[in-house]
Amino acid sequence: MEKAELIYGGKTIGLPVVTGTEGEKAIDISRLRQESGLITLDVGYQNTGSCMSEITFIDGDRGILRYRGIPIEELAERASFSEVAYLLIYGDLPNRAEQAVFSQYLTQNSMIHEEMLRFFDGFPPTAHPMAILATMVNAMSVYYTDYYTEDFQAQTFDLMAASLISRIRTIAAYSYKHSIGQPHIYPKPDLKYTANFLYMMFDSPVDPYVPDPDIEKVLSTLLILHADHEQNCSTSTVRLVGSSMANLYASICSGICALWGPLHGGANQKVIDMLENIDRNGISIEECLASAKDKNSRVRLFGFGHRVYKSHDPRARILKQCAKTIFRNSDRRDSLVNIAIELEEAALKDEFFIERKLYPNIDFYSGILFRMIGIPTNMFTVMFAIGRLPGMIAQWKEMHDATPLKIGRPRQIYTGSTLRHYIPLEERP
Ligand code: CMC
Repeated sequence: MEKAELIYGGKTIGLPVVTGTEGEKAIDISRLRQESGLITLDVGYQNTGSCMSEITFIDGDRGILRYRGIPIEELAERASFSEVAYLLIYGDLPNRAEQAVFSQYLTQNSMIHEEMLRFFDGFPPTAHPMAILATMVNAMSVYYTDYYTEDFQAQTFDLMAASLISRIRTIAAYSYKHSIGQPHIYPKPDLKYTANFLYMMFDSPVDPYVPDPDIEKVLSTLLILHADHEQNCSTSTVRLVGSSMANLYASICSGICALWGPLHGGANQKVIDMLENIDRNGISIEECLASAKDKNSRVRLFGFGHRVYKSHDPRARILKQCAKTIFRNSDRRDSLVNIAIELEEAALKDEFFIERKLYPNIDFYSGILFRMIGIPTNMFTVMFAIGRLPGMIAQWKEMHDATPLKIGRPRQIYTGSTLRHYIPLEERP
């Protein structure tokens, strides 16, 4: 086996080098502390692999993304979201019998417990949909207790996975209906995954939902592109929480909370806020870029930059093309598309962004498409969560399938006070 050598304190320590199937290499430091007394320090995990995984491959320099070996471009064009979910979770595309069983599980688990509706009544109409989503997903562990045991079992896992994938869509649609003061719409068993979601979102007793195959296709593409992205902030949170043997619902809930932040899944909402700001308040592209470059402000060019992609984000390319195609139709106009294209072109010519290899990421064009579908801006990150769910579940399963299950527990370098003693309140100045 290949080894790397570390010389420290006059001693040479040999560290095994692990190679992945695509030739990626890592130094295995799992015995470093025992052998040298050292730990590694890598704030933000920029160079730290937390696991070995067979699910998703990314080559950030070449802009490659594959789920279980299949290029994202092929899946976005040809697969359905439920097929992709199956592929990620179970490792292969389903055959017809497997697809039928999986679809049946999704249909049978699409309604939420009627008592859960009372939760919606308790939320103010202004509640952020991500807060509602996280609460309701965690609340599933109260209502579907027979679906999980602390011993990880295949049959119960299959039910839990289908329950989450199917019900998250119902929860999201109900929270929207609640926010606009309309009655919720029950799922329809004969509709496919994306069509059913659109139906629950947009049907009403006085204005029936009219299916639109173009919109269903765009939504399916969006969900597929979000479905997994290896070890990112939210997925790694799911793994970390799940490593304590917390149940799947609780683990996914924590991942949803991690996704909410504007540097991660919340960026899609910020992109539209930014584009609307340019549109409404007449801010110039130059001003917008200048504030993103200003180190004294916390403003960033949302939808730009990525920890891994350093040439392009293949998901952003697919979505840009998708936006261009769909908006060619004269019935569908959105002034924000042209602003986005102008902003992207200006940023790609700007030295600041070139030097730092900052390109549009998935969130740059996804918001424009969510808007076209009719999804309100504050629900964009919920849509990201619906899409990302199969990946989170797949990563949780992969970790649990591996033996032994190792609890996640990083170390730190302490930089606080050295020993000092307690002073009673009356003696303090
Ligand atoms: N606008 C302006 N400057 C940026 C941006 C941006 N969008 N992204 C990175 N930079 C600068 C940053 O200030 C830093 O500059 P310097 O070297 O002078 O200090 C340099 O580029 C490196 O940035 P970083 O924050 O150290 O890079 P990171 O790998 O830690 O962060 C990121 C990656 C995605 C958080 C970051 O690029 C960012 O904040 N982008 C905007 C938010 C966004 O679009 N997030 C969605 C990411 S894709 C969906 C997902 O998977 O979450």
